[in-house]
Amino acid sequence: MLISIFSLTYNCMSKQHVLTGITTTGTPHLGNYVGAIRPAIQSISNDSESFYFLADYHGIIKCHDPERIHRSTLEIAATWLACGLDPAKAHFYRQSDIPEIPELTWILNCMCTKGLMNRSHAYKAAVTDNEEKGQADLDHGVSMGLFSYPILMAADILMFNAHKVPVGKDQIQHIEMTRDIAQRFNHTFAEIFTLPEAVVNEDTELLQGLDGRKMSKSYNNTIPLFIPEKKLRKLIMKIKTNSQEPGEPKQTEDSTLFHLYQAFANAEEITAMEKHYAEGIAWGEMKQILFAKINQEIAPMREEYDRLMSRPDYIEAVLQAGADRIRPMSKALLKTVRQAVGIYRLG
Ligand code: TRP
Repeated sequence: MLISIFSLTYNCMSKQHVLTGITTTGTPHLGNYVGAIRPAIQSISNDSESFYFLADYHGIIKCHDPERIHRSTLEIAATWLACGLDPAKAHFYRQSDIPEIPELTWILNCMCTKGLMNRSHAYKAAVTDNEEKGQADLDHGVSMGLFSYPILMAADILMFNAHKVPVGKDQIQHIEMTRDIAQRFNHTFAEIFTLPEAVVNEDTELLQGLDGRKMSKSYNNTIPLFIPEKKLRKLIMKIKTNSQEPGEPKQTEDSTLFHLYQAFANAEEITAMEKHYAEGIAWGEMKQILFAKINQEIAPMREEYDRLMSRPDYIEAVLQAGADRIRPMSKALLKTVRQAVGIYRLG
């Protein structure tokens, strides 16, 4: 009873919590910037409390290359800071610096049926893959980390009472699973956990890559966010177009160049560009304009990124300070949870 009153007052008094994690396995690209980083940083306000963290325990599920995990942690942290994340205004931390997260994960493991995890898209995809390859063991190559991945994610989210979780469409199921697990805990023990909601921004979701498909590491069609200017220009010159000649009126809808331009230009500029398309702008010219537009936004951040990348000690200090600031929250929550399940001092 005491516990539920505590959590109720806590939840009512606090601002809305917005939380999201970034898996530390890759180098941020333009799609990450437009789809996740830029909107997340823009959404930081005094009306809500933001939690952005480096999900390095998620990183090691599929990536068993220690240098890559380590390097990606640095690159992602430097990227968010260079893009304007102010660690005074948003909680910015590394998952593995909050030891209460794996502790909570275990407790949530005990609140999660295996059947729920059997339904996880990521797991089912691995099984289907094995089926197609004619593997006798359908669980071949499936680690317990992959299988129970959504439970770690639930701990990330429930630890800080997140109300809103901005994610890509592929993650919606994980938020639903988080709600299921939280409800089961609340029902079994005490009303401790806030039920989170997924927030999916459909407008900025799918940035196209060099070949016109969704920009994604797995398609090898990305434009890394902070490559040197010359390389950025080169990559933009490689973007796929059709074979229409200069002077021929062009369609905007199926043009990757136009699609990318839209992600960086304002309404007026977009209208003007539609006109240029109708008038038959040459692809070469469009590529130059697109490069200038993207580079104009990225260049100052690139400079800051390069500066930050040469200061890993500074980034480490920022992450440590971020963890220090929120650990009172995670410690308090874990204490309440342990108490609720019967794990506390004897006398
Ligand atoms: N699984 C998420 C992804 O691949 C990353 C992530 C880990 C996350 N923990 C989270 C996202 C908690 C939101 C909330 O994108």
